[in-house]
Amino acid sequence: MSSRHTELLITVDRQAAEPMRTQLERQLRDAVRSGALRPGGELPSTRDLARHLGISRPLVMEAYTQLEAEGYVALRQGAAPRVADAAPQHHRPKFPPESFITAYYRYDFRPGIPDLSTFPSARWLKSVEAGLKAMGPNDFGYGQRFGVWPLRQALADYLGRVRGVSADPRQILITGGFEQARACLALALRRRNITHLAVEEPGYANYATWVANGLTLVPIPVDGDGIDVAALAASPAQAVLVTPAHQSPTGVVLSGARRLALVNWLRARNGFAIEDDYDGEFRYDRAPVGALQGLAPDAVVYAGTASKSLAPALRMGWMVVPPALLSALEYEALLMDYGQSRIDQHALAHFIASGEYGRHLRKMRAIYRDRREALLAAIRTDLPEVEVSGISAGLHATVRFHRRLDEPVIRERASRRDMGVTFLRRHYLGTAPEASTLLLSYAQMPERALRTALRTLVGLIEN
Ligand SMILES: Cc1ncc(COP(=O)(O)O)c(C=O)c1O
Repeated sequence: MSSRHTELLITVDRQAAEPMRTQLERQLRDAVRSGALRPGGELPSTRDLARHLGISRPLVMEAYTQLEAEGYVALRQGAAPRVADAAPQHHRPKFPPESFITAYYRYDFRPGIPDLSTFPSARWLKSVEAGLKAMGPNDFGYGQRFGVWPLRQALADYLGRVRGVSADPRQILITGGFEQARACLALALRRRNITHLAVEEPGYANYATWVANGLTLVPIPVDGDGIDVAALAASPAQAVLVTPAHQSPTGVVLSGARRLALVNWLRARNGFAIEDDYDGEFRYDRAPVGALQGLAPDAVVYAGTASKSLAPALRMGWMVVPPALLSALEYEALLMDYGQSRIDQHALAHFIASGEYGRHLRKMRAIYRDRREALLAAIRTDLPEVEVSGISAGLHATVRFHRRLDEPVIRERASRRDMGVTFLRRHYLGTAPEASTLLLSYAQMPERALRTALRTLVGLIEN
């Protein structure tokens, strides 16, 4: 038997009128009924429990045997005693179904998730080790809310070099991905008396956080050059959320003229832009266009994330904050939480500074480029009547049909074939165009699977 020591929250009172064996049985029975001890869970051995309670082993054995007869405990020669699988419980709580984020399909065309099978675990482990070695005793405390200094330094250097971001490490705030940054941003904007936030239409549809934190959303149309800045200027918005490198989800790039117009709008309105650079590193036909932030560092909050470049599981993101918003954002962030794991931050700092981050991105860029080409070739063969829009970048393609498809039925049929699909319609706050547009991620499937999955999907659409 294992020598593992299983602890149990039970006591016996030698002075009590109730016999010790009855006390033991009662407490074990109650703990199982209440759900504190879960069906199948390990119990201490008779020897351990006897020693822990300072009572005789036969007494514990008798209690366990009694509870076995009642159906609470399962005893097996040579194995640790366990709570019986079908032990009676007072109540079995009903839990709501888990959110879509935990539902994975074998063939997943839904955008948003990188290839999860290529996470560089061995190299990450080396960075965790190096990060831990670099940490002194004080680094294991709470530290600054902004995040650990080596990561802020590594990011300032990397973002300046690769994304054209103008960043001093003192402006960098480490976040729990973009999703956590949102709530802080909303509250900080409200603190500046900003009430209306413009969003791209269609856009990245996670809007609830903005609204719940007091902002009114103003949808601004996106065309082939990105967000329509003239429409933005005609709106009541004082701040705007944009995805300039690769618009989410249409895949267009914000043109040079629109960038300048947007910067002029920021100056004229004395407003702020939030630049969500979620997949800016993935551009396949040429070098990525630099970040908007480089053109107006005083008015643009640059937000990046490790969710596409490494994995959503890290829950790590960063903001480069204009000085005018620094104290408001730090204040809101501190009210919300005390920051991300500082051990992981040191690991990421090492991963970036040692060049592994860049190496991983170069490797993934080649993989995604090949997958994108394979998908586009398959679309040309299997779906010749559609239009593929968006630049050669990011992790998904935008495929426009000339007619409206029965989208719910296709989604349902696809799901029965273990396939996840998304249409553009859900990314509109207002009314979407009549014709259907499919969003097809190529990030998670190798070329052959992509071709097979697309053929299956075409079959589902046509029948
Ligand atoms: C447009 C956009 N921004 C940001 C994110 C990343 O969010 P997070 O950093 O919280 O994982 C996503 C993820 O799907 C996204 O699609």
